[in-house]
Amino acid sequence: MGSELRTLSLPLEELRDRIASREAKVAVIGLGAVGFAIARAAHAAGHPVLGHDIDPNLLARLGEGTCPHPHMASEETTALMESERFEVTGDPARLCEAEVILICVPTPVDEEGAPDLSAVEAATDAASAALQPGRLIVLESTTWPGTTREVVLPRLEVFEQSLGKDFCLAYSPEREDPGGHSTEDIPRLVAGMDEASLELALLFYAAIVPTVHAVDSPETAECAKLFENTFRSVNIALANELKDICDGMGIDANAVIKAAATKPFGFMPFQPGPGPGGHCIPIDPQYLSWAARKAGKVAELVELASKKHKLQPLKVVDEIREALGGDLMGKQVLLLGIAYKPGVASTCESPALVIAHELTKEGALVSFSDPFVRRAPVEHASDFISDQSLALDAKSLGAQDVCVLITKHSEFDLDLVAETATRMLDTRGCLPQ
Ligand SMILES: NC(=O)c1ccc[n+]([C@@H]2O[C@H](COP(=O)([O-])OP(=O)(O)OC[C@H]3O[C@@H](n4cnc5c(N)ncnc54)[C@H](O)[C@@H]3O)[C@@H](O)[C@H]2O)c1
Repeated sequence: MGSELRTLSLPLEELRDRIASREAKVAVIGLGAVGFAIARAAHAAGHPVLGHDIDPNLLARLGEGTCPHPHMASEETTALMESERFEVTGDPARLCEAEVILICVPTPVDEEGAPDLSAVEAATDAASAALQPGRLIVLESTTWPGTTREVVLPRLEVFEQSLGKDFCLAYSPEREDPGGHSTEDIPRLVAGMDEASLELALLFYAAIVPTVHAVDSPETAECAKLFENTFRSVNIALANELKDICDGMGIDANAVIKAAATKPFGFMPFQPGPGPGGHCIPIDPQYLSWAARKAGKVAELVELASKKHKLQPLKVVDEIREALGGDLMGKQVLLLGIAYKPGVASTCESPALVIAHELTKEGALVSFSDPFVRRAPVEHASDFISDQSLALDAKSLGAQDVCVLITKHSEFDLDLVAETATRMLDTRGCLPQ
């Protein structure tokens, strides 16, 4: 490492020393589930941290010491906000104080399913306007291969600062698992735009996560991140297809998957369900399909899986209608869990919202119970008879024509549900029989 360092410019050599001693101030742009998690982890590693977000409500909640991400411990947020090494700001000009800048903003798709990089562009422009000599910028958002080189780099070079002399640029995809693994336990892929960028980014992340894997180019790391989530997308679609086939044959698909999972090599279990939610599975494969088309290829399998995911909630609606004798008009339906996965409060792309909408269209009276989501998202409130989560007790369960398990939060008393509900539909095949 020492001999490679001799080629660094003075500002970058100073940056290297300050990263190594954890004195380098880290700015995180975008304090969502991803940005907040890495901001917390960088602070825990000893760095001073400045969080920047454009959402005034989120900043206000943080200012009150409230965690905006319910799957993270509230006490930790309070302690973090009280730390002298942690600050949040809505002012992008303050990014000039930071020596390491992490870009963790959303990467959605537009109405045609094409990548919408407007937040990445805006965040990069803010970093660029505040750029001082001797800085490391890392893009963490999930995106198409080529973004770091073709979108981020040119925007950083506008003010006559140059890569390798004034600043370093790397890509390190966030692999956050809200409600599951913590940031400090998840190995990282790290790719630099040049050798100096790779070296500094590896040094930075090595102090935060258990393992850092150097990857030869940002494009490889960008594509690896998309492939990780696309792999899950395709396998979830396959598990749902297996469930369909097994239903036709009178076999329990979950028992089949459990049996197959006893094989210690070449198999990984994925469970059927009402359709995936969150950002990763519904959105990320669309980035890969889009990138494939840009390269003159068609990601057939990937697109087929996404198509099957979109149909999955509608199949659940068909099952509910069938269970209720073919007519949903006036029927009371309780959805258990509307978060997109257990243990989180996010309803991002949740199949429960599609199910509620379709049921309501057919005249059903839909309520929900979710220990993490107290209120239905405003734009979906009209699909529920009340936008408030129902308490799960014998009275509320007994009043329903059918209870439908969508998201299996461990807080649910499923024995009570099985004993009390008049009719139960289990989209995951995991209730006590
Ligand atoms: N949520 C996950 O589990 C997860 C896991 C791995 C990777 N990712 C990826 O990480 C990225 C961020 O995801 P997220 O879930 O944290 O998103 P999010 O929508 O929860 O949060 C993003 C935050 O960025 C802020 N923001 C948007 N534009 C900004 C700008 N120009 N300047 C400052 N702040 C800005 C928003 O106000 C918001 O608070 C996405 O690319 C996503 O695909 C997400």
